Amino acid sequence: MPGPAPVHAGVSVGGVGVDAPFYQAGLAGYSDGAMRRVAREHGCPYCITEAMLDKFLVEGGKGLKIAELTEEDHPICGQLMGSHPADIAAGAGILAGMGYDVVDVNLACPVKKIKKKCRGGHLLSVPEEAVAILEAVREAMDKRPGGGPPLTVKLRRAYDDTPEMAANFRVVFEAAMDLGYAGATVHCRTVQQKYIGRGRWPFLRELMNEYGAEAKRRGFVIGGSGDIWTAPDIFEMLDQTGVDWVSVARGCIGNPWIFVQARAIMAARAGAANVEAPRSPTVFEQRDVLLRHFELSVALHGEIMASRMMRKFGIKFSRHHAAAVDLKKAFIGVQTTRDWRGVLDAFYAVDGPGIDAGLTAEALRDLEIGDPSRLVIPYEVDDADETCVPLGEEAG
Ligand SMILES: Cc1cc2nc3c(=O)[nH]c(=O)nc-3n(C[C@H](O)[C@H](O)[C@H](O)COP(=O)(O)O)c2cc1C
Repeated sequence: MPGPAPVHAGVSVGGVGVDAPFYQAGLAGYSDGAMRRVAREHGCPYCITEAMLDKFLVEGGKGLKIAELTEEDHPICGQLMGSHPADIAAGAGILAGMGYDVVDVNLACPVKKIKKKCRGGHLLSVPEEAVAILEAVREAMDKRPGGGPPLTVKLRRAYDDTPEMAANFRVVFEAAMDLGYAGATVHCRTVQQKYIGRGRWPFLRELMNEYGAEAKRRGFVIGGSGDIWTAPDIFEMLDQTGVDWVSVARGCIGNPWIFVQARAIMAARAGAANVEAPRSPTVFEQRDVLLRHFELSVALHGEIMASRMMRKFGIKFSRHHAAAVDLKKAFIGVQTTRDWRGVLDAFYAVDGPGIDAGLTAEALRDLEIGDPSRLVIPYEVDDADETCVPLGEEAG
């Protein structure tokens, strides 16, 4: 007989309290203030911004606008990406000044090398450069009154599957711990793997076996990332790997209910009475969240940009609807706000139960392997303006 399911509490990220063992990942092109607010309204306790390029923050203008925060958007972690220690350190100082609770350094994004310089996950192939960046950011925070916000780092499990790169991962991971970082999120795919194929959860288990006790002693929280499609996946990862908390990424795009469901599972495991069993959102609940997201997006970006954003979110939300295939097609055809509202009028006028496209976590994973274009949303650097952009969201 299996024993009772383990009870999970929240975590402390360098003193920043989080009351549940999961959070919304950085998601370039998606996880703006509007998506974060919707996630929080559904029980998400902590959010990370998309990767922000250091030089955009330092140069001001558009980069700084992206980083603006609202009072409700806490606790929040601002994520930085770049190549030069001094620039990333300067970017960290700007985020600290803007009120970010935690600052994260991205050593995970599979962006191309720019002008022969590495950044994101490519830095895992040159660990001395990665460590120089971690040191520079640490020094910049140490110089701030009170020591600045806690620091974390986002890593992939390695650059590729060679022993040399496995050793490089350890150098960078240990440096983060030794430099007094408050934690790391480890995406259990390699940089070369990008988003294709399954993440290697056993890697996270081995990582926890090796470093878990020391990390706990030092207050270094380890987050797991990779293949979290449903709320039960969050608890599967916690149970199977022993990570302190879990990063929810593709599984929450168009699916803020994953946080409601995760809270319900957490409460049930803690023995709370009268917990509503996790369920799919009804048609009217889906419509209400789409409208709320649109309202928040308009406030943030103005109507034209918000319509573009809501077209791609609509495509992702469609999987909860009984007419998922037709609805998705309709969202793909949207050009204007009027079209978008038209899709809502056509598909969300009558209430009914929601579905999860009939897919279990297992089926979703298999689907990804069988047909990567269905669920993989890779992101790359747009060379024109050097921002991180998701590609192929139409593939849904
Ligand atoms: C569209 C997209 C954008 C992403 N943007 C970021 C980002 O800005 N910062 C980051 O740390 N990770 C980013 N990631 C990686 C995710 O946070 C996560 O580590 C990865 O998707 C693996 O988790 P999953 O398999 O559960 O989706 C992005 C992933 C996707 C699909």
